[in-house]
Amino acid sequence: MEKKKYYIENYGCQMNISDSEIVCSILDNEGFIQTDLIQNANIILINTCSIREKSEKKILLRINQIKYLKNYKKNLIIGILGCMAEIFKKKFFKINKIVNLILGPDSYRELPFLIKKILNQNGKYINTYFSNNETYSDIIPKRKKEKITAFVTIMRGCDNMCTFCVVPFTRGREKSRDPISILKECEFLFQKGFKEIILLGQNVDSYFWYGGGLKKNFNKFSLKNNTIINFPKLLELVAKTVPFMRIRFWTSNPNQITLNVLNVMKKYKNICKHIHLPVQSGSNKILSLMNRKYSREEYILLINQIYKILPNCSISCDIITGFCNESEKDHNETLNLMNYVKYNFSYMFIYSPRKLTYAFKKFNDNVSLTIKKRRLTEIINLQRKHSYYRLKKSIGKIQEILIEGISKKSINYFYGRNSGNDIVIFNKKNYKIGNLIKVKINNCTSATLIGEIF
Ligand code: SAH
Ligand code: F3S
Repeated sequence: MEKKKYYIENYGCQMNISDSEIVCSILDNEGFIQTDLIQNANIILINTCSIREKSEKKILLRINQIKYLKNYKKNLIIGILGCMAEIFKKKFFKINKIVNLILGPDSYRELPFLIKKILNQNGKYINTYFSNNETYSDIIPKRKKEKITAFVTIMRGCDNMCTFCVVPFTRGREKSRDPISILKECEFLFQKGFKEIILLGQNVDSYFWYGGGLKKNFNKFSLKNNTIINFPKLLELVAKTVPFMRIRFWTSNPNQITLNVLNVMKKYKNICKHIHLPVQSGSNKILSLMNRKYSREEYILLINQIYKILPNCSISCDIITGFCNESEKDHNETLNLMNYVKYNFSYMFIYSPRKLTYAFKKFNDNVSLTIKKRRLTEIINLQRKHSYYRLKKSIGKIQEILIEGISKKSINYFYGRNSGNDIVIFNKKNYKIGNLIKVKINNCTSATLIGEIF
């Protein structure tokens, strides 16, 4: 039989990028061939995101847009993967008749089998069951050709239940991956020539290995304590296993990060000094409504500890504006907290009510869109000032930069990142992509550092 070609389109977070790489690996192993041209594909897969209404709308529009391809290829298979599959379930078949296959984030191993079934017998298939232990540990994701940075997933799902967030419903409860498989993958990546690893999890500080299964099922009486590995231990193991690679991790949780993480970061030169620490709001009232399980004061204490242990650490953030009952006073408290921390960068969002969440069911989305937009603009403008303030502090310094590629602005320049995750543009000289080099920072814009090779 002629080999079938698949095309995959990805939306959403880094975890989805990593999941798409896993999907490609599963399909390649079964003899399918990836194509970058949607017109050539026999199978089109869309890995979807549900985090905000905007993302869902964009994807629904896209599915509508590719409908016409079915006219040219009668047996074309269209599959919906990821978070929207989990939310919409069978409804997808109704909304869009062209969809043949719906698979949630824990069901990707079934892809080759179900695709073959559809090819042979037609039909429509769905699997959105959550697995208690699916971490795809044994699958080496199919990564892009430029071997610089690789995502390594260490845990999946989230038990935190922030009231605005759909992730616990789309990705299920927390399950951590076997540390041995993580270390093996890191070593493999080093052998393959990768230079940097980003350890991924919905909240990496929740990483907890006790032999497998859901975190909530852990029974401390049935185990010897020395078999438990938490995030700081894992981070240290990774840093030691691949001492010549840069290590990053994403995302930390203010309620769960420990001093041990900060100490491990300090101890190992190869762990980048950057923490993504979403605050969401600066108001205690809103933090409590969001069920974030920390107060503004505790968050500030944590920031102080980070700067004490790691004085040059970059801190970035996620902020939601216009959550239910957010008053002008609450909004000002967010601006005020931003002024205290002066984040290196932030991702800033307007609150978007999500079905299934506690906030959707119990609270009123009572801040008008006009106010939400105005507050967002204020937050973005302030963040711009802070990013510039932080970048300016690098001017005159010599920093270690990993060369990631050729600058979009000029082929005579490279771009790369410093330890704090800032983008740096600099002249090429005789270096190559993937080299770790010293760059003297001479200038900056509001978002980028400009330097020269030292
Ligand atoms: N811990 C996760 C967070 C996932 S969601 C991680 O790995 O990054 C990413 C960000 O999207 C959240 O931090 C939050 O700021 C934002 N977000 C989540 N739900 C949202 C909603 N309903 N409306 C607006 N923004 C939301
Ligand atoms: Fe979402 Fe909160 Fe978990 S933002 S991913 S429920 S930590």
